[in-house]
Amino acid sequence: MDYSEKVMDHFANPRNVGVIEDANAVGEVGNAKCGDIMKMYMKINDEGVIEDIKFKTFGCGAAVATSSMATEMVKGKTIEEALKLTNKAVAEALDGLPPVKMHCSVLAEEAIQAALTDYYTRKGLNPDDYIPKK
Ligand code: FES
Ligand code: FES
Repeated sequence: MDYSEKVMDHFANPRNVGVIEDANAVGEVGNAKCGDIMKMYMKINDEGVIEDIKFKTFGCGAAVATSSMATEMVKGKTIEEALKLTNKAVAEALDGLPPVKMHCSVLAEEAIQAALTDYYTRKGLNPDDYIPKK
């Protein structure tokens, strides 16, 4: 199985790894297929822009690389833009993933959704009013 250079780079030097202590959006998801876990932290400002984002992934190389790329893709973007990010777009930005590793990229998309669900819940809003069902 071959990984692209971009996947190897994001696996070896993942961007935005860590925890945001004063995050106002935190999401944790698990991959049912393999049991890997990803936690995503965001700092969202009053304009609904994701000012900062960090992640921790306990999982395989493809999961780490997709988390890293996904955080880069939504940093500085609005919530609406972040909600449109698909795992396919993340995989494409990494110049592709081996087919057996595509499920790993789902973790990043789901973690972003979970964090934004938390964001609305903390505000006392119903996330279903803001987050389109997939
Ligand atoms: Fe996730 Fe092996 S199943 S690292
Ligand atoms: Fe589990 Fe990649 S094998 S996320």
